[in-house]
Amino acid sequence: APTSGTFKIGFILPMTGQSASTGKQIEAAAKLWMAQNGSTVAGRKIELVIKDDAGVADTTRRLAQELVVNEKVNVLAGFGLTPLALATAPIATQSKTPMVVTAAATSIITEQSPYIVRTSFTLPQVTVPIAEWAAKNKIRSVVTFVADYGPGLDAEKFFKSQFQLNGGKIVGEIRSPLRSPDFAPFLQRVADLKPDAVFVFLPSGQGAAFMKQFGERGLDKSGIKLIATGDVTDDDQLNEMGDVALNVVNSHHYSAAHPSPLNKRFVQAFEAANKFRPNFMAVAGYDGMRVIYKALEATKGSGTGDQLLAAMKGQLFESPRGTVLIDAQTRDIVQDVYIRKVERVPAMGNQLYNVEFDVQKAVKDPAKTK
Ligand code: DHB
Repeated sequence: APTSGTFKIGFILPMTGQSASTGKQIEAAAKLWMAQNGSTVAGRKIELVIKDDAGVADTTRRLAQELVVNEKVNVLAGFGLTPLALATAPIATQSKTPMVVTAAATSIITEQSPYIVRTSFTLPQVTVPIAEWAAKNKIRSVVTFVADYGPGLDAEKFFKSQFQLNGGKIVGEIRSPLRSPDFAPFLQRVADLKPDAVFVFLPSGQGAAFMKQFGERGLDKSGIKLIATGDVTDDDQLNEMGDVALNVVNSHHYSAAHPSPLNKRFVQAFEAANKFRPNFMAVAGYDGMRVIYKALEATKGSGTGDQLLAAMKGQLFESPRGTVLIDAQTRDIVQDVYIRKVERVPAMGNQLYNVEFDVQKAVKDPAKTK
């Protein structure tokens, strides 16, 4: 890719299909970053190129190839689902193009290419804290309920090992298909197993449908507690969920209600530019742009792929979610993970939010530190 002239960032995102909210959130956040930080860095004009892969891995791979070969993008970014990131990793390696993953969250992704940097999160990183919380809060038996692919299997495995280590018992492990899931039969199994709690991971976009069925089947009144990663109580859909989501305890790295001054400014500007609330995908897109801008500045506007990558490693900064670090060794993000509870917040228009009440600081991906 050229080291002078227009600097192109090629985002590949699901803008249509089941994961379209991920694309919508990340595009809005990248545009907000540019509106706030300008479209020239170290003398080079920045151009965003946004491509829709509709969540189909073969399409992601083809679009990545076109962006690298024809558009000569300097950086690839986005990747809304794990299979889409995995399909692109070899192209990043062969073309020496930095690949900034702003969504997909299976632990192994960063190990598939030395050109990958991640600004989102990993499932093991956000799952271990809720497993610890559950064991400390009188939950003795759990059924795990996860989407049947990379991030779900990470969540299942790390919930199970941490919960068992802390004395808990797993009494059922349920996996639901990623595409067109029907939760009803699985929820019936949860009801029959009568655990103290059900732990849930589903990708962004499926939480509202799950919550609706959870309520319709009366599980919210069955005495079985619902605990989850914050992917389920997603800020993008949380308000639609209604009272069934109240009091759900979950763990994640970002809440639109995170009470820092920087986040308040971020949310206010985001909501002013869009008619929706930023979620964890948005914050990863925003921070992905930050990592790219600072790398271009650090290389004085003329970085090669390898030089840009080197300047991405080790970046430490305040994000709307809290302090984050791009670990120079793993190229994965180190961040605070919060325990939150869904509440109506009178001071914020009586809307539903994930209200943080505990935190584990500077959590590394536990799948890489063991
Ligand atoms: C992935 C996708 C999501 O929407 C999410 O919330 C977590 C992980 C993934 O495919 O990696």
